[in-house]
Amino acid sequence: MQMSDENLRMSQPGIYSLRRLGDVYLQSEESLPNKEEEERERIEIGLLLEGLFQMYGYDFRNYAYPSIRRRIWHRVHGEKLSTVSALQERVLHDRDCMERLLGDLVIHVTEMFRDPTLFASFREQVIPLLRQLPAIRVWHAGCSTGEEVYSMAILLYEEGLYDKVRIYATDINEEVLQVAERGAYPLKKMQDYTKNYMHAGGKDSFSRYYSAVGEMAAFHPFLREKIVFAQHNLVTDRSFNEFHVIFCRNVLIYFDNVLQNQVHHLFYESLSISGVLVLGHKESIAFTGHADGYEAIDAREKIYRKYK
Ligand SMILES: C[S@@+](CC[C@H](N)C(=O)[O-])C[C@H]1O[C@@H](n2cnc3c(N)ncnc32)[C@H](O)[C@@H]1O
Repeated sequence: MQMSDENLRMSQPGIYSLRRLGDVYLQSEESLPNKEEEERERIEIGLLLEGLFQMYGYDFRNYAYPSIRRRIWHRVHGEKLSTVSALQERVLHDRDCMERLLGDLVIHVTEMFRDPTLFASFREQVIPLLRQLPAIRVWHAGCSTGEEVYSMAILLYEEGLYDKVRIYATDINEEVLQVAERGAYPLKKMQDYTKNYMHAGGKDSFSRYYSAVGEMAAFHPFLREKIVFAQHNLVTDRSFNEFHVIFCRNVLIYFDNVLQNQVHHLFYESLSISGVLVLGHKESIAFTGHADGYEAIDAREKIYRKYK
């Protein structure tokens, strides 16, 4: 069967140079996109992201390029298309396709008490600061399916601060928020989460916080009482309150420098004086426009405190 350039291109993004031998096209592994092809691809991706923004309001224009490029090609293949431009056309005319693309562009991986040493440090170093406050507002930005939020609810409950807390948990994606609101996760994950909980300094038996319902572990409703789940886009939406703690872990890593700075500005403006910012292990406040506005409470765990 003769394969078209487009079919070959479809089978592996980034490998475009084709040699023709008789009627058969051969794909050369070592061939990388040349400058012109690279430039064309950048333009196509730029136009797709612009269209996505103009048509639907989702702004991925400043997400880190290498990862966004990979994900777009994944969707091109998923739609059985051969170019980014073809995907652009479909996305603009077909909302379902846009939703599928959206599902590819954002990573939702998360777990309970993820990076347990961070939660242990938070317990030790931040909880004493929070005890001084009459009321505590916490914002989990980019909360995904909510595991991080329930972890925080459990921690605050164990520290006797639950009555005076309000936790705002937001994400760009409505589907993950629906999962988060249900507060039920596969039972088979509980073994790992129990280990995390214990490493995070958990004070009780983890299983007391959920009941088995079929194959799911349903977290007890009292843990949801203080949580407000809402859709919020860090790129296009404004601050909606003043917070004493902001968790934003493993979200900024997908943004380019311009966007990281913009979101750091949003966080800085949204934190009270002495408010605490918690980033992911691979993220940092260094080299952002607000680096001078924070001191490290625990640099290794990426816990910072706003001091001016
Ligand atoms: C990898 S998850 C991180 C979940 C959790 N914070 C953790 O560290 O386990 C990243 C989340 O960021 C969300 N996200 C990506 N872009 C966003 C944006 N512009 N505004 C709000 N949330 C966003 C995604 O939908 C996804 O659920």
